[in-house]
Amino acid sequence: MTNKITIAVDGHSSCGKSTLAKDLARKLNYSYIDSGAMYRAVTLYALRKEISGVNAHHIKQHLDNINIHFETNEQGLSAVYLNNENVESEIRMKHVAESVSRIAEIKEVREKLVMEQRKLGKSGGIVMDGRDIGSVVFPNAELKFFITADIDVRTERRFSEMKEKGLSISKKEVESNLTQRDKIDSSRKESPLIKVKEAIEINNSNLSKEEQLELALKIVQETIDKLS
Ligand code: DC
Repeated sequence: MTNKITIAVDGHSSCGKSTLAKDLARKLNYSYIDSGAMYRAVTLYALRKEISGVNAHHIKQHLDNINIHFETNEQGLSAVYLNNENVESEIRMKHVAESVSRIAEIKEVREKLVMEQRKLGKSGGIVMDGRDIGSVVFPNAELKFFITADIDVRTERRFSEMKEKGLSISKKEVESNLTQRDKIDSSRKESPLIKVKEAIEINNSNLSKEEQLELALKIVQETIDKLS
């Protein structure tokens, strides 16, 4: 019997990574960690301290005061906590989305969060999604996915998600935020988003959630079979 493996899911913003990662974890009975939620929680802390824009690097002085953990509720949904406060909804808001890439560029922020992510995944049996999971956090992960979708499809998905939550934002704003974040995430100096050579790419522009999950589960099974 193979022990539970580590599955890294990287890709662009709003390409369905978290949906896939959550579904995989549920089906496989693994834990799920949304690493983006950790960067968003640090960003929320920064915004509350009025740290943003050109002063984003001031967050470095506060890192020891920032504690992040996850809890799963009775419905099996995971929520991120910032210093023991549930901030799962607040971190999805526009002001956080607009500032997070700048905070995620900072070396010291990444070092702290990568260390915590490795601790969370030390026993395997984990699906973690983000931008640098296969390249930096778990370079030895047994399985790495790189998820992508066309920008129009991603914009439409994120726009509907925000509309459902009652947030007022235009499609144009959503598209420009996604494009801007992709650009910063892929071109930053510290752990940019890259597709590592061993990652399996899935472009889900024309796949339903169910089709994407079915395809990924088949790949997981093949990986586990090869290892045992
Ligand atoms: O996955 P997300 O959109 O919630 O991520 C929010 C931001 O955090 C994203 O713009 C890039 C950053 N991020 C990162 O740099 N590294 C990760 N492992 C996860 C997210």
